[in-house]
Amino acid sequence: MKVCLSQMGDGAAMHAEEVPLYNGPLCGVYHQQIAEVTDMGNSSGFPQVLIQAQRELLNYSGTGISVLEMSHRTSDFSNIINTTENLLRELLNIPENYKVLFLHGGGTGQFSAVPLNLIGLKKDRCADYIVTGIWSAKAAKEAEKYGKVNLIHPNLDRYTSIPDSSSWSLNPSASYVYYCCNETVHGVEFNFIPETKDVIIVSDMSSNFLSRPIDVSKFGLIFAGAQKNIGCAGVTVVIVKEDLLGNALKECPIVLDYQVQAGNSSLYNTPSCFSIYIMKLVLEWIKSNGGAEAMEILNKKKSSLIYDIINTSNGFYCCPIDVSCRSRMNIPFRIGKKEGDEALEKLFLDGASKLGMISLKGHRSVGGIRASLYNAVTLEDAQALSAYMKEFLKDHLTEIDH
Ligand SMILES: Cc1ncc(COP(=O)(O)O)c(C=O)c1O
Repeated sequence: MKVCLSQMGDGAAMHAEEVPLYNGPLCGVYHQQIAEVTDMGNSSGFPQVLIQAQRELLNYSGTGISVLEMSHRTSDFSNIINTTENLLRELLNIPENYKVLFLHGGGTGQFSAVPLNLIGLKKDRCADYIVTGIWSAKAAKEAEKYGKVNLIHPNLDRYTSIPDSSSWSLNPSASYVYYCCNETVHGVEFNFIPETKDVIIVSDMSSNFLSRPIDVSKFGLIFAGAQKNIGCAGVTVVIVKEDLLGNALKECPIVLDYQVQAGNSSLYNTPSCFSIYIMKLVLEWIKSNGGAEAMEILNKKKSSLIYDIINTSNGFYCCPIDVSCRSRMNIPFRIGKKEGDEALEKLFLDGASKLGMISLKGHRSVGGIRASLYNAVTLEDAQALSAYMKEFLKDHLTEIDH
């Protein structure tokens, strides 16, 4: 009998042999729930991943214990974190001169970590932030604590576009240029990498990471919370070019210091072991389903299904985002009129929920509807939503003012 209390309070760890293994019926029920309820908001589970995690929950790979109980210093966990890193390197073709880190603190933690580690790269201690939505605005605000921040286009009255790059006034002596590749709330996505001459680029890819291939070699740093496309909350991936390490400001907390974390293979302090394990399962799933290229094809198809209905609805569904930067991940729209008919929108959400489609309500700051089509949302899920949108349009078209 194994007893492992390394990461749980006394008495919290279970003895593997004492707990019945859940298989059969519970597995079936769980699967059914996932199949019937599609979460179109935050990340939804990959059914196969959840089932595998359930199967292994009490006894990981014959170890007799759960990953939840496992010490991060064991060879079993080393295998998990190394496999996760290798999968990421393979799926994104990450060059050897980049470190891959698995950190705590979410995307928000990186809003601080990025300036703390990189704003001192040049003596002026300044950085350019291209602001295209609330996440890049928040990141810029946080960076202002540590240096001078030049906001590129902060005064867009609404975040619905990416201003033409010829109008950006980038500072050649900036330590880095920062942008958010996909603004989750507003649905504004970059489909190009900004040209910044010799200044390194930092990108928040929290909500479109691994939804398509990216050329990592063009970036100084990329970060992404796992919870949208590659796992569950609790771990944030940082991919950073090696020659940028070692420039942290002296006030940088040690857990956020990239050089310290890289030197300790992300094990300077206890990492989010279970979240890293879930990421490994999701990456295995992505790999066996064709990798980043296949995700891109799928995500294009899924988002086209929804945009096609919006575009042909004669204004019944309105997406305010410029066509050139419409996100494949998050599609915000209003119903009935540009600023939305709240009664119709409520009816839409209630009807969707009855069909098992949840989390379609838009972010509280913009209202309306938002469909999030992360990697775990299947083509069939998107088809179900598009069929529902067509039906709803047919039933309610006459109720709106033209
Ligand atoms: C693009 C983007 N960046 C950052 C964040 C903040 O992430 P976290 O809540 O993990 O701190 C989010 C959250 O949804 C996001 O969508």
